[in-house]
Formats: sequence, structure tokens, C-alpha cells
Amino acid sequence: MGTRSDSSTPNPDYDLSRPLSLDGSGLRQKLASYGDPHFSLFMRKLFIKALGYSEDALSRPIVGIVNTYSSFNPCHANIPQLMDAVKRGVQLSGGLAIDFPTISLHESFASPTSMYLRNLMSMDTEEMIQAQPVDSVVLIGGCDKTTPAQLMGAISANKPIIHLVTGPMMPGSFQGARIGACTDCRNNWAKFRAGTLDIEDISALNEELAPTGGTCGVMGTASTMSCILLALGLMPLSLPSATAPAVSSSRLRIAEATGTHAVALARSQLRPQALLTRESFLNAITVLQAIGGSTNAIVHLMAIVNRHPQLAGSIKLQTIDDIGLKTPLLVDLKPSGDNYMTDFHNAGGMLALLHELKPLLHLDAMTITGRTLGEELASIPFRPLPLDSPLSSIIHHFNKPLYPSSSLVILSKGNLASAGGAVIKASASKDRSLLSHTGPAVVFSGPQDLAERIDSPSLSVSPSSVLILQNIGPVGNPGMPEAGLIPIPRKLAAKGVSDMLRISDGRMSGTAGGTIILHISPESADPESVLGIVQDGDVITFDAERRYLHVEIDEDGVRDRMAQRKKMMASEGSGSAWVARERERGYRGLYKREVNQAEQGADFGFLTAAGPS
Ligand code: FES
Repeated sequence: MGTRSDSSTPNPDYDLSRPLSLDGSGLRQKLASYGDPHFSLFMRKLFIKALGYSEDALSRPIVGIVNTYSSFNPCHANIPQLMDAVKRGVQLSGGLAIDFPTISLHESFASPTSMYLRNLMSMDTEEMIQAQPVDSVVLIGGCDKTTPAQLMGAISANKPIIHLVTGPMMPGSFQGARIGACTDCRNNWAKFRAGTLDIEDISALNEELAPTGGTCGVMGTASTMSCILLALGLMPLSLPSATAPAVSSSRLRIAEATGTHAVALARSQLRPQALLTRESFLNAITVLQAIGGSTNAIVHLMAIVNRHPQLAGSIKLQTIDDIGLKTPLLVDLKPSGDNYMTDFHNAGGMLALLHELKPLLHLDAMTITGRTLGEELASIPFRPLPLDSPLSSIIHHFNKPLYPSSSLVILSKGNLASAGGAVIKASASKDRSLLSHTGPAVVFSGPQDLAERIDSPSLSVSPSSVLILQNIGPVGNPGMPEAGLIPIPRKLAAKGVSDMLRISDGRMSGTAGGTIILHISPESADPESVLGIVQDGDVITFDAERRYLHVEIDEDGVRDRMAQRKKMMASEGSGSAWVARERERGYRGLYKREVNQAEQGADFGFLTAAGPS
């Protein structure tokens, strides 16, 4: 710790006869390059003193706080209060807190989709952590793509980090029933489309579905990633870091404690590449399966692990399926179940779940405190709910699960899935008979074709048809939009059909449900994609139990159709997304040229630990 100085005391930092000790910490690290380190430090100090800092303050460990507040991001509405509380924790512990902005992404305010900008946010996070003199960093995020982007960037930057999520919103109320973003947004919109809700109802629902700031209040992607961050050991387990509501005083106390932990990390220099091991990721996948988490989390986890130099390539889609086979679904939250994040929080949250999952967890995995997961679980006081508690059904007992295993299923057999796999959240299927189904394809060539024809009275479709949407993969529709929840054709919805087998190379919101196969790789824009050659009337067979997804075209037929398609793409030239990307400018061109496929995380190849191929 430095001493207070005044203008009459010569500062040894400016003594040119002494070599400047660039000790890699505090303000002396990451100096701007002027070819003279003394001058660089002199300049840095004179500018930061414009903000009123003393030499004493500037001699403390520096905790950077990543500020992702934006008035376009209601999921991050509480960030100003959280930053105040983090700063309090940092300063009470002898550190100096300095916040700085990075990109903020909200699902509804990022066109074409927030996923298109996730990799850009990760680059922003990585480079700002790298460029600035911080000894540790608090990453404040919450909305779906923000926390994955932050962790991807932070692993690459490899400075000590701790996550603080903004927390879930509270549920709202409509005609006496609880509602919440965004499972109920989708369910009620489907009812409105089917004509069972009128325009007055849907307008009233719009006022209540997101009644407070914070992230979506079901087990969507944001909640899933919060639980995963805790399971990875990147948030403290001693506080309800993953589940406390955004508007609670608990959330502010978590923020203050996060500041305290950040100062300890600044001193211990425990970095994410050392903290995160293969076992950390296996624990995270176990939690993902047990909470019935978002399919998006699979893409994010692949991108995250592939940023880690020692672990890249060691976790595959098959790993997720293998863990799923022995992991029961225990948490009864929408869209797989019936409840909201506040219920999960009140029922004991992640601490209770991890106790239930103990037989499946790697208890020697490290956490942010420097203690192992097992040590944390043994030392944090925990009392299970009384058996007669009305909340005891929220977190099921390990031996009495909500769904026996494989909430998230990876498909790897059949000509539609054997190349790069596909994903389905089986636990969110509304009509479980569809988990083994054969039917004729009704193919839409893209979102525009879907919008134009899905509700056409002349569409040839029946409840046993298989709806296929092409060209919503990473390159075909940059950002791989959450359009995989293909709406039920209105003429069938009006007759009461609420679920059909639906297939695409895109994603689906973690808050959505239905029998929906996603992330088919290679995507249909790729000339080698089998999904890209499926036509109306082709027979599709799906069997979740056998991990099988197949279109009944023999090998010669596949070869012929692909050859025809390649000819067509060549003649279309820039009309084909695959061909046109070579000449596109700006971020869009960079995205389309560099993004890898879903099973690798839809990251940019040059950002992965392996670097450009
Ligand atoms: Fe931000 Fe759902 S829109 S978490």
C-alpha cells in the first residue's frame, strides 16, 4: 500500500535515475506506449488525477467493473445500483474500483439477433480487459448473450474475473394467474394466433409479462447461464448469486460481496484458465441437464470451452449427451415445468440443487474462493426445506425426478444428424408422442418464405407433417436466429394442434417449448448440408431414444441433389449467402467468413484457443 503524497514530496515514480518497477500490477501495468515508461506512467497519473484520485487510492489493487448498462437493456436496469454496491465491497476491502463500459446486448433490441453480436461483445470484453490496468475484473451481465460473451472474452484475456449477474425479474399477473417472460409471451401469442385470446387480452398481457427489470423469470438462457456460471465456480456459492431477484436487497448484498471477492482475486491472481478444468465443465453440464436448461447454453458452452487453451476440443456434443443419460431433470421451472425463478430461489436455489446432485458432481473442482466445490458445500450452512413445504416440489429429490434423464438430447445418427449433430430439449416437448415420429416434410426455404406461407389456407399440411425451416444457420442467416420455434400453421392451431415436429439449423429461445430440433450442422446454406436438400414430401424419421434423425433419400439421391444444388449456387453467385460472404464488407462480412458451426460454438475461428485454421 502506498503512502499519501503531496506536491512537496518528490514522487519516486518520476526519478529517472531509478529503473521504473513495472511489477505487472496496479497502475504500472499495461502502460500506453510512448517509448519511455516513466513518461507513460507520468501521463497516466496526471490524467487519472483529473478525476480526483490521490496517490494513496492509486496505489491500491485495481478492480475493473465491466458496466453493461444501456437504456435499451431492461434486463440490466439495476446495473447502476449493482455497481455502487460492488464499489462499496471493493473499497471496504482496500481496493480501488474503476468501472468501464463495454457493449450491452438485449434480445429484443439487437437486429438481426443478439447472437450476431455475441462474438463482437466477447472481443470488446477481451480487449478492454487486456488493454487496461486492472488486477481483477467484475463482469456484470445478465441478458442471454452477455454472460457467455463476457466469459469467452475473459478466458481469452485470462485476468482474474468474477461474474455478477443482474438477476431474474419478478413474475407478473393476469386474470389471477402468474405470468412471466418469456414462456408465457410465447404461449399466449400462440393462443392469440389460434383465436382463443382476443386483442384486449393480448394487450393487457403485454403490460404484465415483464413487470420489473431483470432477466427473463423462467429457465431461459439467461437463468441457465447464471446457474452454469455458479456451477463453473465463477460466482460465490455462499450467497444466492444465480437466483436472487434483480429487485431484491439480496442482489445488492451479493454485489457488495462480489466486490470483496474481487479484491481477494486481485491479490491471489487466480485466473480463469487455471480455475476452470474439465471437471468444472462436466459439473456445469450436469447442472444444465438437471435444470432443463436452454439449448442455447450448449452453443455457448462449446464456444467457452474452445477458448480455453488446455481444454479446447475436450468437451463435445457427445459429452453433453453422455452426462444427460445419467442426470435427472430436478428443477420444475418453465418451459420444462410450471414455475418461475423466484420459486427456485425461494426453494433453496443452486445450493439446494448442488446438494441434491452431489453424487454426480466433481467435488474437487475449484471455485472463485480458492476452495473446491466440495469444501464449499461442506462449509456453507444448508438446511433442506421441510417435506411439507409448498415449495418442496420445485427442486425434486434425486430419486423422484421430474423427468428421468436427458432433458437435453443430442442427435448423432441418421443422415440429418451424423455429420455435426443436432439438439432437442426433450423435456420441453408438449406432445411426447412426437419424440418418436415419422412424417412428410413441409419445407420453408427461409424466414421470409415461412412468413409468407405458414398461415396460407392452401398450405398442404397436417398434424403429422414435419415442419422444416432452412437457412437460419450461422452463415445463412447471420446470428443463427431464434426462429426454430416455427409457429403451428394457423389452420391447425385453430383446430387445437399445439405441437408438431419442427426442424431447423437455427436456435430457439430458452424460454420456448415444443418438439423442436435445432442446431443441425452443417447448416443448410452449406453446399454439403443434407438439411439443405430436403424437399416437400420427403419422409422424415425422428427417434429421440435412438438419437436418430433421417430423411429417406438414398445415398445416390443425396449425391445427385447436392450436385444440382452446387450448380445452382454457382450460377446464383452473390445470390447465395455462402458464396456472397467472401465479398461482404464490415462486421457482417467478418461474421459470415469467420463464424464456425453450432457444434463448435458459433464463435469466430480466429478467437478460439486454436486460432485461425
Ligand atoms: Fe434479457 Fe430474456 S430478454 S433475459
